[in-house]
Amino acid sequence: MSKILLSGVQPSGRPHIGNYFGAMKQFVDMQNDYKVYAMIVDYHALNSVESKEELTQNILGVAIDYLAIGLDPEKCIIFKQSDVPEHTEACWIFNNLISMPYLMRAHAFKDAEAKNKDLNVAKFDYPVLMAADILLYDTDIVPVGQDQKQHIEITRDIAQKFNSRYGETFKLPEEVIKEDVATVPGIDGQKMSKSYKNTIPLFASDEEIDKAVMSIVTDSSGERPENVYAIHSLLKTPEELHVLYETHKGQYKALKEALAADLKVFIGPMREKREVLAQDIEKVKEILMIGGKKARAKAGEKMKEVREKIGVSLY
Ligand code: TYM
Repeated sequence: MSKILLSGVQPSGRPHIGNYFGAMKQFVDMQNDYKVYAMIVDYHALNSVESKEELTQNILGVAIDYLAIGLDPEKCIIFKQSDVPEHTEACWIFNNLISMPYLMRAHAFKDAEAKNKDLNVAKFDYPVLMAADILLYDTDIVPVGQDQKQHIEITRDIAQKFNSRYGETFKLPEEVIKEDVATVPGIDGQKMSKSYKNTIPLFASDEEIDKAVMSIVTDSSGERPENVYAIHSLLKTPEELHVLYETHKGQYKALKEALAADLKVFIGPMREKREVLAQDIEKVKEILMIGGKKARAKAGEKMKEVREKIGVSLY
């Protein structure tokens, strides 16, 4: 039986090349060797998306993105979290296994708290819902970016707590973080992130690519524009880049133009594929619906076992 790969993307706006290289590409690369569960975590995104229309559009958007990058719905289960209510059910049960001080030590929570004192409860509980997402599927590996490492550690802690209290139930998942793309930098050199407004969207138009690349922050003191180079190294080998950056030493504009051209070659065909897929929304919805049913069948079995173990199954 193949091992299980599960991961997710929030429908909180357009995915960027950081999401792609850090995580999404791995789902595609591994779909022949693993049973892939590619989630759209719409309940997690409720935290940042308040508009009904926007959430609906974003959900469909990520489904189309998954297909456009090459996930094969015949092989993979592409689904949205809200189609499997067992996730929120398990989250509630898990809430009883871990303490508030423990969750308050999570980096993501501390960062969010530093920026906004008015945090809602869901932001605090985010890792517990994520643990439910992962544990209900007997997941072996979770490909993610570096920023999610601690969430997978929390997931393992929750699984261990449950197993020791109620008996062996959950498999302990492993994160898969590719070293060279663990934290893809944005155009300002910080981690690429929707909330920092420093992204290059994965399906950017040629104009958007030009605009983003030309606004990459460069440091005039160095020989090489590090932020340009870092993004370029997602697309080219160190050998290829060595030649290019030696030939154009100090010519920041020419190097940015070369990066923009390479991004267009990489993004263009995927964007065209996406445009075709986006014309058949009914087909996309059908893929999600089928995926949701399959996911629910799997998660439902696990939740049945969980209910029995905790003592609420009477009939
Ligand atoms: P999201 O949508 O914020 O991010 C999706 C994935 O993209 C990775 N990522 C990056 N990787 C490298 N460099 C970057 N600059 C960068 N920015 C984002 C994230 O690490 C993530 O892997 N919490 C998850 C969603 C989730 C999930 C799950 C993932 C909910 N439940 C269960 C796996 C399993 C998240 O950060 O989504």
